[in-house]
Amino acid sequence: MKILAIETSCDDTSVSVIEAKNNFRILSNVVSSQIKIHRKYGGVYPLLAKREHQKNLPTVFKKALKQAETKKIDLLAVTVGPGLEPCLWQGINFTIDLAKELKLPIVPVNHVEAHIAANFIDGNPKKIFPAICLVVSGGHTQLILMKNIGKYKILGETRDDAAGECFDKVARILGLGYPGGPIIAKLAQQYNFKIKNRKLKISLPRPMIQQKNYDFSFSGLKTAVLYEFKNRSPRIRKSKEYTLAICHEVQQAAIDVLIRKTIKAAKDFKAKSVILGGGVAANKELRKQLKEKIEKEILNSKLYLPNPKFCTDNAAMVAVCAYFNRSKKKNWQKIKADANLRIAEPQ
Ligand code: KG4
Ligand code: ZN
Repeated sequence: MKILAIETSCDDTSVSVIEAKNNFRILSNVVSSQIKIHRKYGGVYPLLAKREHQKNLPTVFKKALKQAETKKIDLLAVTVGPGLEPCLWQGINFTIDLAKELKLPIVPVNHVEAHIAANFIDGNPKKIFPAICLVVSGGHTQLILMKNIGKYKILGETRDDAAGECFDKVARILGLGYPGGPIIAKLAQQYNFKIKNRKLKISLPRPMIQQKNYDFSFSGLKTAVLYEFKNRSPRIRKSKEYTLAICHEVQQAAIDVLIRKTIKAAKDFKAKSVILGGGVAANKELRKQLKEKIEKEILNSKLYLPNPKFCTDNAAMVAVCAYFNRSKKKNWQKIKADANLRIAEPQ
């Protein structure tokens, strides 16, 4: 079965064609990033993103079909939420036009579920449930109990900013550029091997780490960075050592909270596996430390880490997610955007 999927929930326009048999073959996965356009705002500007999707979709679609070397598609899929409503509609309207032309049904896909499905691109999941999923991106930070494919319970989530959003805002405060996550990760890594003589002591809070629930809060971490930065002299603020040290500390603060709550959930629910997903899942330090912690503390849980190229938004994960949800296919008349779509109601 060949599935063509479209993703436009935020600032990446993506179209992918996959072939699903016993396993998945990615025939194409074209992503057009709008980073350059949003860079000057330090974040995503929704109406500009919508315009860019509209402009880019036909080209990205043509490229994806050409790379896939096929015209025969059996099923369409599109992200319907959560995400930026004007952006979601661009992908949906494009998919609806295709559905009418090709007389095909559409599988509506949840973006957060697609981030989880990114882990199954290399193979069907077997004997992995119950699983604890940590989805961390620019728009979401959720801990989800996955009882089976399609059976979810939200255990906890951020009460304010998402972890990726916190990195993006911190990078803006420090004048480092957009998106903040990869830049902070790179500078944090340099701190480890460049700064041997550590005179600067920076210590940031680990919000909600002591609380027994599975919720997060990252807006206080961003504010703590703002005050730490404002209280330093211009000489210190401009120094390389300071930038590296603060990037290292903010990354570690977020990782500490994310890992602590994930391990607690995995133990509490006797998880057979822990699954990471979302743009922040590309963070090498988060991947490494989560792996170490699971190996040390919960020996019988298997860790799933998505291939780095499928961590940030892409349509291949949407196509794979649609395959698992193929029984939920609908006629185009029933496909609508839901900016606040949830994978399940909170516990
Ligand atoms: O999943 P994604 O592409 O979009 C949303 O669904 O939000 O995630 C984008 C987010 C951005 O906030 C970006 O800063 C963050 O993922 N990100 C990272 C890394 N790569 C992307 N954060 C930390 N380390 C990275 N290597
Ligand atoms: Zn995403």
